[in-house]
Amino acid sequence: MSDSNLLTVQQHILREQLRFSGASGEFSFLLSGITLATKIIQAQVRRAGLVDVLGEHGEVNVQGEIQQKLDVIANEAIVQALTSRASVGVLASEENEEAMIVHKGDKEAKYAVVFDPLDGSSNIDVNVSVGTTFSILRRPDDASLDSPEAWVLQPGSEQVAAGYVVYGSSTILVYSVGHGVHGFTLDPAIGAYVLSHPNMTMPDRGKYYSVNEANTDSFPEKYNRYLAGLRNGQYGHKYSSRYIGSMVADFHRTLLKGGVFLYPPTEDNAEGKLRLLYEANPVAFLAEQAGGVATDGKNRMLDVNPTSIHQRVPLVVGSKAEMADFAALEE
Ligand code: AHG
Ligand code: MN
Ligand code: MN
Repeated sequence: MSDSNLLTVQQHILREQLRFSGASGEFSFLLSGITLATKIIQAQVRRAGLVDVLGEHGEVNVQGEIQQKLDVIANEAIVQALTSRASVGVLASEENEEAMIVHKGDKEAKYAVVFDPLDGSSNIDVNVSVGTTFSILRRPDDASLDSPEAWVLQPGSEQVAAGYVVYGSSTILVYSVGHGVHGFTLDPAIGAYVLSHPNMTMPDRGKYYSVNEANTDSFPEKYNRYLAGLRNGQYGHKYSSRYIGSMVADFHRTLLKGGVFLYPPTEDNAEGKLRLLYEANPVAFLAEQAGGVATDGKNRMLDVNPTSIHQRVPLVVGSKAEMADFAALEE
C-alpha cells in the first residue's frame, strides 16, 4: 500500500474543507451524510438477488417512469442521512416532485443537496453497474426557506461540490469541491472509502464514444455527422463504442479513459433525456475539474439557467479533443 491508500474520504474532506473560509466542520459532516447513505445503498445493491429489493415498486415517479424498489430504498437512505445534518436546508431528488425543506428557519441551514439516488435503474435487475449522483449548492443570499426552489434553481457554475458513486465491480466515490477530482474505492473489509484515484484528469483524447445508437434516426443531423466522423477516422483514429445505459458508469469510463458521452435530443425527448440539476450538472462540474468539457450540444452546461427542478437537457461531455471536434461542426 502506498501512503495515499491510507487516506479515507472523511480525512480528505476535512483537508479540503480548509479551503472554505470560515470552515466549521459542518460541510464535512454534510458530505459524511452522503457517504453513509451510499454505503447503505451499496449494501442493498450487493445483496440485490438475495433480499426482496429487485423489481418494480409499483409507483410512477415524477418523470413518468416506473420506480424500482431500489430507487425508493436509495432515495430514503439519502433523505434520512441528510435530514439529520443541520447544515442542509433543502433537498431535491429525482424521486420527489417538489424540493423538500429540511430545516426550516435554521440559521445553520445553508446548503441544498440535489441528487439522483439511483441512476441506471434499468440495469438493476441484470447486475450491471448503477450509481448515485449529487450536487451541492449554497443558499442564495435572497432565498428564504419558504421558497425551496430558489435554492436549487441555480446554474451549475454555482455548485460548491458535486460527485457520484458508481456501484460497479467495486464501489467508487468520485467528488470535487472545485479543486480537482478525487476518487475513493470502498474497502469492504473496513467499510471505508479509501483514496485510490487522487487528482483525476481526463486524457486529452480517448478511444470510445458512448451513445444510445438505437436513437440515431431521430438525432439532429449534426450528431450523426459527428458519429460518422468518429467511426471513419476523420478525428485521428477510428473510434470504438461503449454504452452501458447508466450515465454514471458511462461517465466514469469517459473520465478515466477519455472519449465522449452523448445523450442528444431525440424524437421522444426533444430536450434530451437526462436531467440538468442532478445528472448533467454534477457530471459537467467533474468533467471541467478534470480538464474535460461539457455542453448541452451548444453552450457550456454549467452556464445553463435552470427553470424547473426536473428539467431535461441534452448532454455532450468528454475529453478536450473530442469536444473541440464536436464544437467545430456546423449546425
Ligand atoms: P435513471 O435510472 O436515474 O432514470 O437514469 C437513467 C438514465 C441514465 O442513467 C442513462 O444514461 C440513460 O437513462 C439511458 O437511457 P436510454 O435507455 O434511453 O439509453
Ligand atoms: Mn438517472
Ligand atoms: Mn434515478
